[in-house]
Amino acid sequence: MKRLTILLVTMTISLGIFAQAADIVPKPVSVVKKDGVFRITNNTKVLFEASNEIEEDFADLAKELLKSATGTTPDFVAPTAQKEDNILIQLNNPLDTKIGNEGYTLSIQKDRVFLNANTTAGLFYGMQSIWQLLTSTDGTTLPCMDITDYPRFGWRGLHLDVSRHFMPVEFIYKYIDYIALHKMNVFHWHLVDDQGWRIEIKKYPKLTEVGAFRADREDLDWNSRKEPVKENEPKYGGFYSQEDVKAIVEYAHKKHVTVIPEIEMPAHVMSALAAYPEYSCTGEYKPVPPGGVWPITHIFCAGKEETFNFLEDVLTEVMGLFPSTYIHIGGDEATKTEWEKCELCQKRMTDEGLKDEHELQAYFIKRIEKFLNKNGRQLIGWDEILEGGLDPTATIMSWRGSDPGIRAAKAGHDVVMSPTSHCYFDYYQGDPSLEPKAFGGNITLKKVYNFEPVPAELSVEEAKHIIGAQANIWTEYMPNGRHVEYMIMPRMSALSEVLWSPKDSKDWGDFSKRMESQYKRFDKLGINYATSAFQVSARPELDPANKAIKVSLNTDAWDPDIYYTTDGSEPTVQSNKYTQPFTISKSGTVKAVVIQDGKQKSQPLATDFTIHKAIACKVDQKYPNSKSYESTGEYALVDGIKGSKDHHDGNWKGFNAKDLVATIDLGQSQTFSKVSTGVLQDNGAWIFYPTHVTVEVSEDGQNFNKLGTVKNKVSARDGERQIQDLVLNKKGTGRYIRVTAAHLTSCPKGHAGEGQPGWLFVDEIIVE
Ligand code: ACM
Ligand code: ZN
Repeated sequence: MKRLTILLVTMTISLGIFAQAADIVPKPVSVVKKDGVFRITNNTKVLFEASNEIEEDFADLAKELLKSATGTTPDFVAPTAQKEDNILIQLNNPLDTKIGNEGYTLSIQKDRVFLNANTTAGLFYGMQSIWQLLTSTDGTTLPCMDITDYPRFGWRGLHLDVSRHFMPVEFIYKYIDYIALHKMNVFHWHLVDDQGWRIEIKKYPKLTEVGAFRADREDLDWNSRKEPVKENEPKYGGFYSQEDVKAIVEYAHKKHVTVIPEIEMPAHVMSALAAYPEYSCTGEYKPVPPGGVWPITHIFCAGKEETFNFLEDVLTEVMGLFPSTYIHIGGDEATKTEWEKCELCQKRMTDEGLKDEHELQAYFIKRIEKFLNKNGRQLIGWDEILEGGLDPTATIMSWRGSDPGIRAAKAGHDVVMSPTSHCYFDYYQGDPSLEPKAFGGNITLKKVYNFEPVPAELSVEEAKHIIGAQANIWTEYMPNGRHVEYMIMPRMSALSEVLWSPKDSKDWGDFSKRMESQYKRFDKLGINYATSAFQVSARPELDPANKAIKVSLNTDAWDPDIYYTTDGSEPTVQSNKYTQPFTISKSGTVKAVVIQDGKQKSQPLATDFTIHKAIACKVDQKYPNSKSYESTGEYALVDGIKGSKDHHDGNWKGFNAKDLVATIDLGQSQTFSKVSTGVLQDNGAWIFYPTHVTVEVSEDGQNFNKLGTVKNKVSARDGERQIQDLVLNKKGTGRYIRVTAAHLTSCPKGHAGEGQPGWLFVDEIIVE
């Protein structure tokens, strides 16, 4: 009994704590709310005396943050002045071991505020929290509370590709501000890729004279851009001078952000090779490509000593500009066909006893690592650098899922997690029909929030190698900074919490509530953030007992006011207000929006529902569908929603090398006149239409009579993503309907998967 009481008291306190953390993102480790408030007035002084340059920088930033929130800058004076009405900022002496190198404690009392940390970084993060609290009140009021706060991970990163689209210097400063605002601390600057070399290297001026500019094809889709035809056509591009870089690195340093340069090798370097073709295997000049290139074969020659001399020269200048411990050398996506044909590469393999081109890449990377280590730096690269062998001193950035990171951690490498599943912010964050064109995929705010950087497969010791995570922002479809903002905000808020806050304090509801304040901060800062979290998706909830569907409306927003229609008209505040799942009894289009403070927060998403005789009926499948394409489970084929052209949309059932044989139990004998079977073809994803669909009918579920067959008429070679209904218009009577969709037994001639089994995708069998 006593134990229970204590437990309840503890739960109440901790619930209280989390509720009080309401406004800070990322959520602090601990917040204890007190009664009362501290008000910043004209009398308020900040007691802080800087004793060196980094402390002066901190004081300047603290002044800026206070001014931004309150409108005025309080006096900063030596800590001997007034005792009350002050904000006392102090570096701990002795150190407070609990909060580490980046943590802080903040005690807001009615008559004064104490901010303490072991480092200026900690003080800076404490000031960010003060700024956030002020932006959630009238700008001068701080609610009384005690905060103890420190990060979970040391590497809290955001990457930016400035090659695919050049981002001006002013935007890079803003980007660093956004990183710091989120208490993140790494800016991974992807300065080199095929489509542009973006950093001035004094010894090799052509890198930027030639490599930083490409034929202007900005009016065309990234993957439809042809190579330049004229020497003097208009160019797109830009680069950062060494002076720009120095200023940016210094600016970031003041904000406790480490800038890590990425100098790609051996692939993703067509920009460099356009300037210096002699470092490729063929020596052939190829222009800087204005758009997508795949596969990437035109790469640095690993057989030429000159290549390594060149790279060492470049890296020497880079190390002179970037004081970071880590230098990122890329290492991803090299297709080694030129190496296979190159005499010098082959000779290198013989001389060094390398058994294949993977080992040649490993030789390349290890050689560069030695050079960096000799200069007191550490190498980090994409997970491909594990292939062919690597010394454990190198750090891995796990992007092709988490598996390479798991392997690397088990082998003793430090790892930064950045899997495409959760950390690729070039992927869609909402429904593609409502979003600007993105790379693909779908990584919602909630998905990012649910990311766990430490895989369960790792032991406690191995898990120590996961030093953090980061999001990657590849800019093929982001032509400017405004667009980048849209793709990172608000997803980086979710990521910052994954990286900073304790794992066991994760609470989606609480986070989405605090996001309300965060969106207001973004408004205050003029940030072009996405409101995709407010998109309303309509999902069916099946009611098999009544053979009916209810529709639930869902968002990633906190406590949204949702208004909807079921007749396809545009929802307004006069429309139905959503309170709970509602039954729909006739076919139609559901459209729903969130309207808050009189403002519609996003475009309505339209979802068509088809009400038919088989809704919510039991379906028995002869062959199971793939676990990866289950859709909504056992009723997915009769849930009233049809799949779209996107086979990942959560509506399709996918079968690998199997037919669909589905028997629908209508519950009682019924007469029907039409059976439609929805199918999809996405030749690029190895998904093909069935050759035909056969419909049979039965009263007892044992003895079936064939009703008819519908043939597919579209060629499997048609590469267009498409859907169709294979419709049998024929009257039938019976309790059971068996639908067989016969899969194409192998990918067609000329297809990448020729001779291998393809996929069959089916959604919604409509019985009318
Ligand atoms: C990558 O996305 N190629 C690292
Ligand atoms: Zn070569």
